[in-house]
Amino acid sequence: MPVVRPATAADLPRIHIVRHGTMENRLLDPTKVTSEEAKWYLDHAIFLVSEDEAGVVQGFTCANHQSGYIWALFVIDGQHRKGHGMALLDTALDRLVAAGLRQSHLTTGAGTAAEAFYAAQGWVNRGRALNGETVFIKALERPQ
Ligand SMILES: CC(C)(COP(=O)(O)OP(=O)(O)OC[C@H]1O[C@@H](n2cnc3c(N)ncnc32)[C@H](O)[C@@H]1OP(=O)(O)O)[C@@H](O)C(=O)NCCC(=O)NCCS
Repeated sequence: MPVVRPATAADLPRIHIVRHGTMENRLLDPTKVTSEEAKWYLDHAIFLVSEDEAGVVQGFTCANHQSGYIWALFVIDGQHRKGHGMALLDTALDRLVAAGLRQSHLTTGAGTAAEAFYAAQGWVNRGRALNGETVFIKALERPQ
């Protein structure tokens, strides 16, 4: 079972490997995700990692507690379909609810596994954005 915990600065080298270790939605323009952005998520927003049974980080997610935007969700190739993605996303959404948000949103590459993953998690497909990516939204349930 994946174990989700907050990321620390010590995780960043492994997170870098995970980020560049997926065939789909691979980062083509490295200037788009700067270390400043990663540091902001680490210091101010929601930055989580998922470990396997051996304590190795196999995935991570970053979410914006101010806007509800899921900025990143990546599980390294070879470790898919083991529950890391769902565990990370569920925990991130719990944190967004705790921050008072009622909706989350994200974009992802059209025709990717991620599209099927988000649809399976109940995200609503809102069609293509200007850059061709698919826009998803999800209403967040408030705790009873
Ligand atoms: C999208 C991603 C994060 C999913 O992570 P994951 O750890 O493989 O997902 P999970 O194991 O938690 O999957 C949970 C459920 O989602 C659905 N799902 C996941 N991958 C799927 C796929 N390729 N096709 C169809 N459904 C899928 C299934 O219902 C799955 O449950 P099951 O395995 O019991 O059938 C992962 O595929 C990934 O990192 N892709 C590359 C990077 C990427 O595209 N990130 C998104 C950028 S926004």
